[in-house]
Amino acid sequence: MAGRLQGRTAIVTGAGSGIGRATAVAYAAEGANVVLAELVPERAERIAADIAVAGGVAVAEPVDVTDADAVERLVVATVARFGAVDVLVHSAANVPLVNDHDARLTELDPEVWFKIIDLFLNGTFHVCRFAGRQMIAQGGGSIVLVATTDALVGVAGLDAYTAAKGGVVALTRSFAAGMAPDGVRVNAICPSFVSTEPQKEWLEDPASQETIDRLHLLPIATPEQIAPLALYLASDESAVMTGTVLPVDSGYTAFKANLDVMGAMRVGQDQSS
Ligand SMILES: NC(=O)c1ccc[n+]([C@@H]2O[C@H](COP(=O)([O-])OP(=O)(O)OC[C@H]3O[C@@H](n4cnc5c(N)ncnc54)[C@H](O)[C@@H]3O)[C@@H](O)[C@H]2O)c1
Repeated sequence: MAGRLQGRTAIVTGAGSGIGRATAVAYAAEGANVVLAELVPERAERIAADIAVAGGVAVAEPVDVTDADAVERLVVATVARFGAVDVLVHSAANVPLVNDHDARLTELDPEVWFKIIDLFLNGTFHVCRFAGRQMIAQGGGSIVLVATTDALVGVAGLDAYTAAKGGVVALTRSFAAGMAPDGVRVNAICPSFVSTEPQKEWLEDPASQETIDRLHLLPIATPEQIAPLALYLASDESAVMTGTVLPVDSGYTAFKANLDVMGAMRVGQDQSS
């Protein structure tokens, strides 16, 4: 039976870890030719080898998504090898940069602000620009941007990251509107916490558990639980979806906090009235 992405070619940025890795593996299992576009070459090479062992097609392409020339070379190399770019997933991230150095902007080191905007927003510009031009030329494609719930609900101390990802969310809608006449769909997924490699230490710390539980209705997602949405958005099953911004967040954006607020208010009230 043909896979859901049989014969399609997908570039996945940040494919060496976390959501990008799980998405690349899921795409390859559905018959896609996957280009693992990654800053750390050995990560991508290891995953390409795993995909090959499983019978899939994947190549590792070292790239820094903040380098426009390198991104252009990535798209040219992909087309030379596979003939098209049918899908772009943009999942590159520097999680320690955000977790350890982002801050309330009154205390934020300007260098950190510029680095975070450069990676998460300017990087999105570069990959969308070059992959998008190729998709226009070939008559269609699907772009999946990985944003975050932090761009939908404010979070103290992450001002650079939320600004960058807020830009990604807004871009998703305007770029989708602009690209629709050319047959290119653009959607964004917004995870809350995901147990990716760099998040695991914090997520597994018993001291974090209470906070995590209060913020979510369901258990924290694994990268493998995010990948099916990225697969759906890449496939023809989502043919009528573009410009959507989809939380995939264990209930994070559905409620204020995991507290019985009304119950707490009613304590002491006369129950008979
Ligand atoms: N993990 C979470 O809890 C979480 C939550 C919400 C949103 N997100 C978003 O999901 C996406 C993926 O995050 P993740 O946790 O899977 O990250 P990750 O760290 O597991 O993987 C990101 C990969 O991107 C690579 N990378 C870093 N800089 C790069 C660059 N300049 N060019 C190319 N590759 C680069 C890294 O080497 C790494 O392999 C990010 O956009 C992140 O903001 C993550």
